[in-house]
Amino acid sequence: MTHKRTTRLSRRQFLKAAGAAAGALAAGPVLSACGPAATTAAPTATASPPLKIGILLPYSDIYAALGESITAGMEMYFESVGNTAGGRKIELTKEDEGTKPDEALQKARKLVEQDKVDLVAGIVSSGVAAACRDFFDETQNVLIIANAGSNALTRAAKSKYIFRTSFTNWQPNWPLGTWAYENVGKKAMISVPDYGAGHDMEKAFMNSFQAAGGEVLGQQYTPFPNMGDPAPFITELANSGADFIYAFYSGGAAVTFVKAYGDFGLTGTLPFVCAGFAVEEDVLPAQGNAALGAKSGLHWALRLDNEVNKKFTADYKTRTSKDANVFAVQGYDTGRVIVEAINATQGNTGDKDKLIEAIAGVTFDGPRGAFKMDPNTHNVIQHIYIRDVQEVDGALHNVILKDVGEIADPGDDSKG
Ligand code: BEZ
Repeated sequence: MTHKRTTRLSRRQFLKAAGAAAGALAAGPVLSACGPAATTAAPTATASPPLKIGILLPYSDIYAALGESITAGMEMYFESVGNTAGGRKIELTKEDEGTKPDEALQKARKLVEQDKVDLVAGIVSSGVAAACRDFFDETQNVLIIANAGSNALTRAAKSKYIFRTSFTNWQPNWPLGTWAYENVGKKAMISVPDYGAGHDMEKAFMNSFQAAGGEVLGQQYTPFPNMGDPAPFITELANSGADFIYAFYSGGAAVTFVKAYGDFGLTGTLPFVCAGFAVEEDVLPAQGNAALGAKSGLHWALRLDNEVNKKFTADYKTRTSKDANVFAVQGYDTGRVIVEAINATQGNTGDKDKLIEAIAGVTFDGPRGAFKMDPNTHNVIQHIYIRDVQEVDGALHNVILKDVGEIADPGDDSKG
């Protein structure tokens, strides 16, 4: 017969032990009695507090479909690992980003201060990302941007607390400018929405297009978020005398703009070159033949030939009954970055320096190929593809014309 030996603690000993346990909980989950595991494998979830992730994504206005795709991709990844990371159960608190920077900033504050999330992920609009930057930097809370491409956040306004799994607005457009000069035409007219992302994207495109010898005949800035009647803008483009049009639009605005381009008879007569979001798989079904022949630069394509992408696109279609798109990929990869980083810290989110080091060190093969963070800028380094909208098996898709290689943001404004 075995006897349990009980030990009575003095009041002082009890308070000391209770304080240590409370401290351990604030810094991370309670690990098993054997101590931390020697590898980065996730400890068991039993006694650990949930991992609270604040999701700030648009579920309304012109970027609502982007928010839905990013959410679906992220949830798909979390489900694939049993909704746990570092031994903690993943708990999501979602807020609607909308498109208004001030209102979105209040939602970010609420997630951190009221909901007490461990970190925030999301943000689609560059305007919102710029408005939230100081809050995360000053309060030393981690933000992982899953879309918004604002160049400044990787350059003069970068913060050690802010990461980006998506792209800078510069990345898909700078290689596209050179390619368009060599393959499409020498004179361009530009159309972009009048906010941060539109200006970043046109600047990147113009930088390399003009360096190659191209001429920009004019720039058209349309109201953001809603451009209103596209007719006057399309008419101006049709009468510009350009060899081709360069544009950036996304979500609802991309559908409005590209459909009007087709309705005015410009598809197939005035070549259309764009940042790939404008004709991405999320909008192609609504744009139809108006998008045919559009040439674009982007960091992914539906038929990108690698095993992870094949499985991801098949699983996404089963889950949503839709083809995958670049925003879903970004959500999926953001989920993986979070899980792998939290596994690496054994669930500890209290030590911000360790968490930041872990996020910066995450590398894997994802749907877009090799995924890695630039340790200097905290922005993803990735291949950029030149794509062409073609009919494939009875539907429109982006077909890869060229892999322009691995593109890292320069980290300053020297190249647009
Ligand atoms: C942006 O605001 O940074 C953005 C929005 C939609 C697609 C791409 C970029």
